[in-house]
Amino acid sequence: MRPALLLLAAGATGYEGKHHHELAAVVEFIHTATLLHDDVVDESALRRGRETANALFGNAASVLVGDFLYSRAFQMMVEVGSMRIMEVLAEATNVIAEGEVLQLMNCRNAEIEVEDYLRVIRYKTAKLFEASARIGGILGTATAEVEAGLAAYGMHLGTAFQIIDDVLDYTGEEEEIGKHLGDDLAEGKPTLPLIIALQMGRPDQVDLVRQTLELGGREAFADVLRVVNETGALEAAHAVAVDEAEKAKQALRHLPSSQYRDALINLCDFAVGRRC
Ligand code: IPE
Ligand code: MG
Ligand code: MG
Repeated sequence: MRPALLLLAAGATGYEGKHHHELAAVVEFIHTATLLHDDVVDESALRRGRETANALFGNAASVLVGDFLYSRAFQMMVEVGSMRIMEVLAEATNVIAEGEVLQLMNCRNAEIEVEDYLRVIRYKTAKLFEASARIGGILGTATAEVEAGLAAYGMHLGTAFQIIDDVLDYTGEEEEIGKHLGDDLAEGKPTLPLIIALQMGRPDQVDLVRQTLELGGREAFADVLRVVNETGALEAAHAVAVDEAEKAKQALRHLPSSQYRDALINLCDFAVGRRC
């Protein structure tokens, strides 16, 4: 999705040059690098329906190849030669790393507030969506207002996308999402469904979620899944994602109408309607 945002934002702002493909590849390389590292950090064994690189080749190879992709992405963006775009991508990769560290600090913390969770997902996920859409606008020499709108679009869409990711970690079908369910709980990650369940649950339900979050592991997954269902936490989290997706659409209001803008709008519905 991230390269698509860049390409569509470039199209929507009338870009007619040749750098959009290279930069879309740069964004995908950065994303892939974060996933190689993420699956090591999260000890994940399955991605896109296949064994992860760390499961197949080990952590060392995953970390090193992730570094290779990061640095190759930087070589490629230097070739494009836009200081402004390098600035955007340097900031984005730095913020992603900060988000991952913030998330690590919040691990097994049942006291986390929704705002803290939102900061983590804006940093670790939405920032690259934001950078991708913004770069499309920079290529198309968009006005400051349009560029800011594209950036806000990416930020809201990325936030919606990650909230749905976190919901699917409880409700998805493994064959569809291509990842193991319950990875977040196993790692003790306080994602939005759990935070809402902690707010809405009866004392016994809150105790169960809190204890499982603090201890981690997969044994209590079925019990916690029942609680997030019974407390309405999954629907409530989904509603937050829908709200973010609407804000993303709103942020495109200064773009002239075009097939590109329509496609950007459609991605908002895709992000919240997806099952994988
Ligand atoms: C993915 O985060 C990595 C980044 C966004 C940097 P998650 O750990 O939440 O996502 P999945 O579930 O492994 O894809
Ligand atoms: Mg992960
Ligand atoms: Mg992770």
